[in-house]
Amino acid sequence: MYTILRKDNVAPNVDRYVIAAPDVAAKAQPGQFVVLRLHEQGERIPISISDWNRDAGTITLIVQVVGHTTQQMAAMEIGDSILDLLGPLGKPAVIEPMGTIACVAGGVATAIIYPEARQHRKVGNRVLTLVGVRNQDHLFYQEELAAISDRVLVATDDGSYGHKGFVTDLLQQVIDDGIHLDQVIAIGPIPMMQAVAELTKRYEIKTVVSLNPIMMDGTGMCGACRVRVGDEIKFCCTDGPEFDGHLVDFTSLLRRSRLYERLEYEASLPVKEREGKGCDGRCHE
Ligand SMILES: Cc1cc2nc3c(=O)[nH]c(=O)nc-3n(C[C@H](O)[C@H](O)[C@H](O)COP(=O)(O)OP(=O)(O)OC[C@H]3O[C@@H](n4cnc5c(N)ncnc54)[C@H](O)[C@@H]3O)c2cc1C
Ligand code: FES
Repeated sequence: MYTILRKDNVAPNVDRYVIAAPDVAAKAQPGQFVVLRLHEQGERIPISISDWNRDAGTITLIVQVVGHTTQQMAAMEIGDSILDLLGPLGKPAVIEPMGTIACVAGGVATAIIYPEARQHRKVGNRVLTLVGVRNQDHLFYQEELAAISDRVLVATDDGSYGHKGFVTDLLQQVIDDGIHLDQVIAIGPIPMMQAVAELTKRYEIKTVVSLNPIMMDGTGMCGACRVRVGDEIKFCCTDGPEFDGHLVDFTSLLRRSRLYERLEYEASLPVKEREGKGCDGRCHE
């Protein structure tokens, strides 16, 4: 059992959990994730390890409520326990001295990019962090990112903070300013990562993306997380989650990630509404 020691809300529908998980904390590295199951009947969901404290034996997860399991998790309180928590899983991000790195995050992925940006800074890279969110209420980790970045740029869809527009506008601006980028890391929704990869391809800037396909076991057994990367089929959980953004087939990734939309929608309904009602069409919008 993995006890929730701290919980706070960092943005609308986004909570931070500090969880006692000494075995995971002892080995966690940037880019890795856990697969957790809240209770005996629960489904397994993958969540990135956003931070860890090896001495205290804790890990930090940032979780956005999007469906059935994340709703159940949001209802848990300090002192409650998670039944299973498997990790650290996935290959750690490759972080070595490279020069100037742009860390590009969309929405809740700010939580995932943070430990990577921090490690890049630690090994001596110049770190430009670019964050895109819906509006300023959805910004979090700003102080943490400022402390480990040479520059933080923010874009909001509605212009309530920073640049009004997409995070790709910020990246274009950095490139137009003549800043040489040795690598771009993009983490966020699939369309955002695809847009970043298309932009950087034009300038031949090496780009790494962290993929978030449907996962089940998280250990390479079920094949649910398969993604096409160049001419190869890769398992995101064991070969990734990070891949060369210029080789990822984002179209099939997006299609596969929508396979269970109907079931996910039904699962998120209260039990009474779920019975015999099924999808009202919203899940196909
Ligand atoms: C490697 C990895 C790291 C992730 N890290 C984080 C994180 O740090 N914070 C965070 O909030 N979310 C993260 N996610 C996404 C998170 O796993 C899903 O939001 C969660 O599984 C949704 O479960 P649900 O039952 O609440 O929603 P559902 O109703 O099951 O689904 C709602 C949405 O989530 C997507 N989804 C559902 N199941 C999965 C799954 N097993 N894997 C991926 N996407 C899924 C669906 O396509 C759908 O768009 C990560 C996903 C992956 C693959
Ligand atoms: S989640 Fe099963 S193979 Fe990756």
